[in-house]
Amino acid sequence: MDFLTIAKTRQSCRSYDENRPVEEEKLQAVLEAVRLAPSACNGQPYRLTVCRGETAKAVAAATTGVGLNKFAKQAPILIVISEESYVKSAALGAKLKGNDYRSLDIGIAAAYLTAEAAAQGLGSCILGWFDDEKIRKLCDLKSPVRLVITLGYAAEGEKLREKKRKTVEQLFFEK
Ligand SMILES: Cc1cc2nc3c(=O)[nH]c(=O)nc-3n(C[C@H](O)[C@H](O)[C@H](O)COP(=O)(O)O)c2cc1C
Repeated sequence: MDFLTIAKTRQSCRSYDENRPVEEEKLQAVLEAVRLAPSACNGQPYRLTVCRGETAKAVAAATTGVGLNKFAKQAPILIVISEESYVKSAALGAKLKGNDYRSLDIGIAAAYLTAEAAAQGLGSCILGWFDDEKIRKLCDLKSPVRLVITLGYAAEGEKLREKKRKTVEQLFFEK
């Protein structure tokens, strides 16, 4: 699959086949894509915790505040992305330039993860709504959780949706 096809077919999957596990080699391919992702000063200031079984269910429960993300409990795997320390050069750059490179790096990692998931025929959804404290306890993490990603096979009948996006004119400018 070329990248534009991946970009067109990746979508937030909010309905999973609970009885279909993810093959280990597919999970490893998804994680390898993250390992190869670029980051500020090549610092990779994050950690990924792969949750399955009871831990996955408990993490899913921690994403469902105010009725959101109810589908998360169907996913066989939840991947928690938490923040790690900057490398020195990125920390200095972030301070001098007032830019939050860690969040940018985590966003890029999530983009690589979900793109490779799509390439592997897997469904995924990035979740930004969760209880940080609960997930930190469940995953023994000392630093903040930034994203949770559900991963699994889409339930039967899940259709490719038309993308709703800003137009070319709204997004791109020349000077
Ligand atoms: C940082 C971030 C946080 C998100 N949080 C949630 C979330 O908590 N629950 C959810 O269902 N979708 C969440 N999404 C998915 C977006 O709603 C989705 O990517 C967007 O509407 C575009 O749709 P698509 O992914 O199907 O192309 C999140 C996406 C991003 C990038």
